[in-house]
Amino acid sequence: MKVVIVGPGAMGCLFAGYFAKKNQHEIWILDNNARRAKKLKENGIKIETEKGSFSVKINATARAADIKAPDLLIISVKSYDTEEALKAIEPVLTKDSRVLTLQNGLGNIEMMSEIVGSDRVLGGVTSHGATLLGEGYTRHAGIGDTVIGNISGKLTVSMRPVRELFNLSGFATRLTKDVNSVIWSKLIINAGINAISALTRLRNGALIESQGTREVVSMAVTEAVRLAKRKRIKLVYEDPIAKVESVCRATASNLSSMLQDVLKKRRTEIDYINGAIVRQAKSLSILTPTNVILTDLVKSIESAYSKQV
Ligand code: PAF
Repeated sequence: MKVVIVGPGAMGCLFAGYFAKKNQHEIWILDNNARRAKKLKENGIKIETEKGSFSVKINATARAADIKAPDLLIISVKSYDTEEALKAIEPVLTKDSRVLTLQNGLGNIEMMSEIVGSDRVLGGVTSHGATLLGEGYTRHAGIGDTVIGNISGKLTVSMRPVRELFNLSGFATRLTKDVNSVIWSKLIINAGINAISALTRLRNGALIESQGTREVVSMAVTEAVRLAKRKRIKLVYEDPIAKVESVCRATASNLSSMLQDVLKKRRTEIDYINGAIVRQAKSLSILTPTNVILTDLVKSIESAYSKQV
């Protein structure tokens, strides 16, 4: 398979590195930054794990036209960049190309379906944690499951090689008929972790070590679960708060993606996580005060990076 990872962030490098290490497929990174793409092509990708580190060579380019007829695209840019990234690569796709999103938050599958058609779109979630340490250099900071499905809810033959690719590269992956349920189940985890870690600057594990943050995590999660119930979305776990706490433990050393964004003074995915919960809850007249405060505070940080002491 020709596999293209769009975006060399923490997760993009993680996937590209493990896929390339397995050395069974042609792996590319598409990066909109030409200088960085050149560097990735020259130096490859380095992955640090608890058991040591490894480096692998990778194909990288900033020009979508260099990549002809990919079998699989994995969109690993921030949710607010999905549309632009996909429009850039759409001309080189074939009718058989599949486009997968494992991004955080709501709205990515829908956006991608509008651009390339829902038949070509796969969606899902991953609970692996990764921290970007430098360009092409990522720390694998937490293990979790990866689940893949599509909007139609039908398990298709074209999904099998995708599952194989992930499983053989060390990412335990299963297919689902209810992708909306897994995306909401992950959304609730991100709603409980990301904004609170970005505001407190605590690693995931530390969020549940103090009573204060633990309570705010629980309040944000409880509100999001109330919304999911009203929308009749079935979550994949029985006890959402216990699940979020277990993800905090499994990714204890990780800096959540939102904390990484705030530390780099970048735009965050708040609008797609807690902000999306607030918007949807409002349209159903459900109160989500904790998620409102988390959204407002993260957006205030984002809009005032230059004024921070
Ligand atoms: O966004 C993130 O950081 C990740 O989705 C997760 C699972 C919360 C781990 O940090």
